[in-house]
Amino acid sequence: MIYWLESVDSTNRSLLARRLPRWDALVAREQTAGRGRRGRSWESPVGGLYMAVVVENDSLLPLRAGLAARDVLQPHCPERIGLKWPNDLLCAGSKLGGILCEADDELAVAGIGLNLAGEPPIEGATTLEAAGGSLPPAADWQARLEPLATTIIARLRELVRLPAPEFLARYRVHEQLLGQPVAWEGGRGTVLAVGTDGALEVRTADGTERLHAGEVSLA
Ligand code: BTN
Repeated sequence: MIYWLESVDSTNRSLLARRLPRWDALVAREQTAGRGRRGRSWESPVGGLYMAVVVENDSLLPLRAGLAARDVLQPHCPERIGLKWPNDLLCAGSKLGGILCEADDELAVAGIGLNLAGEPPIEGATTLEAAGGSLPPAADWQARLEPLATTIIARLRELVRLPAPEFLARYRVHEQLLGQPVAWEGGRGTVLAVGTDGALEVRTADGTERLHAGEVSLA
């Protein structure tokens, strides 16, 4: 079941607090205290998609949710939508969306934020509209977002069933860091692969490093 709210502080926080069953979801028209990764906030004005879904916890969940959102949004966008480990959706080099998974025992919420219309919420971000894309017109915000939210959930349901190697084969096609020189707090190297546990494997001057979280930028 999908619950719809005109406004909420954070769909992730609210869904975690409700302890709903797997595959229930919450979509809000705006968030007043949207959460981003690493304790950051996520600007969530009217015009975006802010959803959270209850899913079984899995170390690949952020990547699975990112690929689900990417696959569903791509047909609405003339530019290629890519993924940047571990949680960004990119379009023409700018951030189009982000994923934040938060766990509660064996269940987690996968939070998905997509910038769709209006001004890009922060500098350096983009929107579907700015990339030349659009969603079909609809009577109101809920009717406009409903097909997107429903299809993302359906796609995520397919992707969570895939064993890690099969999932990663599909994910890899869209991961923009593969083969690229990158830098992070404490090192730099060239991205080799994404491991079956979701870690980013990087070749450095001293060997191979496995990054499990954090910020990685193109060097
Ligand atoms: C990031 O890139 O930092 C992750 C952003 C995730 C934002 C989404 S919007 C829906 C869900 N609810 C939240 O409070 N955050 C996530």
